[in-house]
Amino acid sequence: MKPTPPVPDWLNTAAFYEIYPQSFLDTNGDGIGDLPGIISKLDYIASLGANALWLNPVFESPFGDAGYDVSDFRKVAPRYGTNADLKRLFKEAHKRGMRVVLDLVAGHTSVEHPWFKASRKHKPNPYSDYFTWTPNVWTDGGPGRWINGAGPRDGNYLANFFWFQPALNYGYAKPDPARPWEQPVDAPAPRAVRAELEAIMRFWLDAGCDGFRVDMAASLVKGPPDSPELRALWRDIRGWIERDYSHAVLISEWSHPKQALSAGFHIDFMIHFGEPAYNALVGTWGAVKGDARDPHVFFERAGGGDILGFTENYLEHYEATKNQGFIALPTGNHDYPRLSRSRTEAELRGVHAMLLTMPGVPFIYYGDEIGMNYIEDLEAKEGSYANRTGTRTPMQWTSGRNKGFSSAPASKLYLPVDPSRTAPDVASQIDDPTSHLQFIRTLLALRHKHPALGNLGGFRVLYAKKNAYPFVYERSAEGEQFVIVLNPRAASARSTALDLPANASYEPVFETGIKLERQRGRWVADAPAITWGIFRRR
Ligand code: NOJ
Repeated sequence: MKPTPPVPDWLNTAAFYEIYPQSFLDTNGDGIGDLPGIISKLDYIASLGANALWLNPVFESPFGDAGYDVSDFRKVAPRYGTNADLKRLFKEAHKRGMRVVLDLVAGHTSVEHPWFKASRKHKPNPYSDYFTWTPNVWTDGGPGRWINGAGPRDGNYLANFFWFQPALNYGYAKPDPARPWEQPVDAPAPRAVRAELEAIMRFWLDAGCDGFRVDMAASLVKGPPDSPELRALWRDIRGWIERDYSHAVLISEWSHPKQALSAGFHIDFMIHFGEPAYNALVGTWGAVKGDARDPHVFFERAGGGDILGFTENYLEHYEATKNQGFIALPTGNHDYPRLSRSRTEAELRGVHAMLLTMPGVPFIYYGDEIGMNYIEDLEAKEGSYANRTGTRTPMQWTSGRNKGFSSAPASKLYLPVDPSRTAPDVASQIDDPTSHLQFIRTLLALRHKHPALGNLGGFRVLYAKKNAYPFVYERSAEGEQFVIVLNPRAASARSTALDLPANASYEPVFETGIKLERQRGRWVADAPAITWGIFRRR
């Protein structure tokens, strides 16, 4: 069923590929990835079955937080290329029927941004209230992250994330009269900031981009994340987007699809923070203890996870939002360890088999298609700190020097390449029918071929029991029906009874040893240890 509010049609069949530009492909030998590198790999990305890109921020920045600290929202950072290169990327992507989504860091700037530099001046000026300041450094600003000693202005400013990311002032949902720096959303400065945001968005939409992934989307208006004031801000943006750029998508980093989609976003991620579903499924920042994870997750060898931790939470959001837009369960992103961490390739395939057969819009994080490793114990780079660094290492194109990422000396690379002898690479996998890359291609091809397995296909849980394995669900559309069986545990799951029609018959489409058959008058799944399977009703 199609979402009822107007949603760009291309989302119904979209499959995204997320690129951390620093680490994708360096074409000028400076050790850091660039836009020409991305352009040169569009055909490769398309060959996977992906038809849309999300680029992490590519704008001018001092790179304290990998570009999530923008100093000029309208200028591509020279290390990636020029605005002309970005426009060329839009054009080359469009030629291939692909879309390009930019990262919009809407909630904060860098301390190097001219607005903030003006705002921290002693003398009042038009930018003084673009950020939120207490009247002097001795005043506690209240809830939030307040930074003192930024002078010359006498006051503390509110930061959104790291200290050098001052929060733009979109106002407070319910300003506290005892704290006069909490301005209402319709005060002059919050209105001016909103106008700036709209102008930036229009600038890139006019240049040819296809929408935005909005960083910390719930952070703009301060107060509860579902305040009417915050929702009104995004609803308003959705309104003019629909009117003037109806092809454009709004994707939120919110991790609460019910709130995000009803506030106007077309897609919201369920990821490592916010709603618990994703963590209950795969785990992200948790510790690994032998075959188990701490806390336990469904996809672990030890089998201590509880699939209900996923299904109950996911279904609540899925049912509430399926007519409004899409939930995204990505294969990974730049903010948490790759899901390959402490998983064998067979185990990772189970994870990907699920993530790429679920409803909603799939997102593949660069390198996940070849099963790139999470590299432990790397020194932080540009604010990556623990758990994010090892997820951001250079893409492995070949088995040669620097894995084909760059011609720079190894010491000059943005981050070191995976040093392991078994590091996967594209060249070795691309023509190997048994490779992870081919496995990903097959899954995306199935998604594209069968609407039942696609973004809009129906979803029904067939078997999800407390502390039990396997997990079985159905996808359906246009008279087609698929059954997906997942047993990530290192023990078989035998004779799982399934509520499927007696007169049906199923054929395996893509599977690893699972049997779906009639036994004594009922349908049962027999799933050996660490297996997954996709079956189609004949
Ligand atoms: C979320 C981004 O994904 C992350 O990388 C960044 O550090 C924070 N937001 C702050 O912008």
